[in-house]
Amino acid sequence: MKNLKNLILYIIFSQIIVNINCQPYIPKGRIYHTATLVGTKIFFLDGQDNNESLNYFFYLDVSKSFNKTKDSLPFVNLTFDDSVPKHHGAATTIIKREGHTATFLSDTGEIVYIGGCGDNGLLINMNILDVYNIINGSWNKWETKNPPEQRCWHTAVLTNDNRIIVFGGVNSSLTMPVENYYVVLNTKTLEWYHGNGNIIGAPYKGHTATYHDDYMFIAFG
Ligand SMILES: *[C@@H]1O[C@H](CO)[C@@H](O)[C@H](O)[C@H]1NC(C)=O
Ligand SMILES: *[C@@H]1O[C@H](CO)[C@@H](O)[C@H](O)[C@H]1NC(C)=O
Ligand SMILES: *[C@@H]1O[C@H](CO)[C@@H](O)[C@H](O)[C@H]1NC(C)=O
Ligand SMILES: *[C@@H]1O[C@H](CO)[C@@H](O)[C@H](O)[C@H]1NC(C)=O
Ligand SMILES: *[C@@H]1O[C@H](CO)[C@@H](O)[C@H](O)[C@H]1NC(C)=O
Repeated sequence: MKNLKNLILYIIFSQIIVNINCQPYIPKGRIYHTATLVGTKIFFLDGQDNNESLNYFFYLDVSKSFNKTKDSLPFVNLTFDDSVPKHHGAATTIIKREGHTATFLSDTGEIVYIGGCGDNGLLINMNILDVYNIINGSWNKWETKNPPEQRCWHTAVLTNDNRIIVFGGVNSSLTMPVENYYVVLNTKTLEWYHGNGNIIGAPYKGHTATYHDDYMFIAFG
């Protein structure tokens, strides 16, 4: 009898501990964040809420079953490196092309964040890039060579040979297109290639870019 009581107490106690450990993390609503699908996890970075840049990093594992009506979504809060500037409107594409996403390098397990707007409408430096390593959970910085003009609302696709093609975007006026629509980052040498000047009439914001079979499809915008 005593054993049974102990067992029940133990179960209750361990449930309390489990409940404490599983305190749900409820992120604020936001716009202009990035969302990157890696395997079954969607990594969310930053965004904007009431005109204020948010500095958050978390993921949602969509392979786990959850009931949205009953429980909060099982978001997992990740450590954030204070040296990563607040981003919003950092627009890159992979799959899921509704919000803005960042580029995932599957061979190294890294998410590369390029450009976008920070606080006060200032554009984020394209010289030093913030890179999150999903394998060891650390933030790193890539110092690149020959960086292009800073930009916001561009797209990016990853080629089969690990180059990131950045297309379009607006300059610090936030309305006018960048001078150089087409720039490419080699993710091995960290060197930028700058395409020829303006591509007249090509979309520069609100478009999507999809890479398939050595072709990049620029749509709408
Ligand atoms: C956000 O900024 C815009 C333009 O400056 C302004 O029109 C809008 O009222 C602001 N919204 C909030 C929630 O502060
Ligand atoms: C989710 O939870 C609600 C409220 O408890 C319940 O009515 C609904 O049937 C559940 N849905 C599923 C798919 O389990
Ligand atoms: C999420 O993690 C960050 C960085 O580790 C921390 O500063 C923040 O307080 C956490 N937020 C919540 C709601 O736990
Ligand atoms: C994580 O891995 C990256 C790339 O291999 C490396 O540069 C970085 O130092 C590692 N960080 C930690 C904390 O292990
Ligand atoms: C933005 O680009 C436009 C043309 O593309 C140029 O006229 C303007 O001076 C640029 N603005 C800034 C702040 O660089």
